[in-house]
Amino acid sequence: MAFTVTPWEVSGAIDYDKLVEQFGVSRIGPGLLKRIEAHAAKKGLPLHHMLRRNIFFAHRDLKWILDEYEKGNRFFLYTGRGPSGSTHIGHLIPWLFTKWLQDVFDVELYFQLTDDEKFLFNPKLELEDTQRLAMENALDVIAVGFKQGKTHIFSNTGYAKTLYPQACRVAKKLTFSTAKAVFGFGNDSNVGQIFFTSMQAVPAFLPSVQAGRNIPCLIPHAIDQDPHFRVTRDIMPRMGYYKPASVQCRFLPGLTEDGKMSASKADTAIYTTDDARTVRKKVLKHAFSGGQPTVEEHRAKGGDPDIDVSYQWLTFLEENDAKLTQVYHDYKSGRLLSGELKLMLVEKLNGLLTGHQKRREQARKRLDDFWVKD
Ligand code: TRP
Repeated sequence: MAFTVTPWEVSGAIDYDKLVEQFGVSRIGPGLLKRIEAHAAKKGLPLHHMLRRNIFFAHRDLKWILDEYEKGNRFFLYTGRGPSGSTHIGHLIPWLFTKWLQDVFDVELYFQLTDDEKFLFNPKLELEDTQRLAMENALDVIAVGFKQGKTHIFSNTGYAKTLYPQACRVAKKLTFSTAKAVFGFGNDSNVGQIFFTSMQAVPAFLPSVQAGRNIPCLIPHAIDQDPHFRVTRDIMPRMGYYKPASVQCRFLPGLTEDGKMSASKADTAIYTTDDARTVRKKVLKHAFSGGQPTVEEHRAKGGDPDIDVSYQWLTFLEENDAKLTQVYHDYKSGRLLSGELKLMLVEKLNGLLTGHQKRREQARKRLDDFWVKD
């Protein structure tokens, strides 16, 4: 079946094996997992369930990042968000993992909000919209619990005086023909779009510029962003910097369909600001079920957890392996009904969101502690 994964479009039933091959990323093997697990253990933490379950499944140069770290050469983290709408659960997935990395390795995080990108690529959004959304989204970033003092959040237009000269240095080394080949631009693409990847490259080396020495960079991101960092990795050594390393995750499926959860289709997404009743309603009504049409049939034949969206979401959100395995078997055997499985997800989501929403409100007063601008 056909699928598409680019920074501008994610659709269809994604074959992650094919993506690994097409993009040229590497699988995260048992050797790397063991090394990360040992670092986590020093902080009293187990290996993150998104690593245990292959949700963060691929990487570039992760071995090098660990080698350097173990030699005492710490890396910094870089990730970001395109502020095109409200934050939903799908966006939180890589951020939750990034927070874990920050806790385990005790490192700085640079978080880019690409208000320029979303303005340039979305015909319906004005710059004022994406700038406002950047501030809104930043509340969710802070609510995830990143360390104050070690976390630097900025928007591209708000930090342009710092970012732009560096972006120019990148852009000079990037030809239109490369940008076209990587991103599929044509004569009808606006020139801002063609330039944009230069802005996304900058945080991968800005801390090195500011420190006056090269610092390794690790970028956790959803796999669709890899084309940007392929370009970045190609150019960085030519500018005298390290290639950034990266670690890639799968997409949380939409409630109703395959592919990525889309913020533009309200029913397929659970927003971080949805209240408990809304969450319950959306999941019960829209979560695609792998169950049988009637209770009798379900008890007799069992459900299919592998296509059931509620189960899939629990693999992203339920940290307890034993509990998850139990759900899997109970559902497959027919002991657990679709409605019951959905309610388990509702409970998990509402537990997560209650804390998040409280921290998100508190974050309004803390924005200045995290926000960097010129
Ligand atoms: N372009 C990304 C998006 O549309 C936002 C982004 C900027 C990003 N820098 C990043 C995402 C670094 C991951 C890592 O969502």
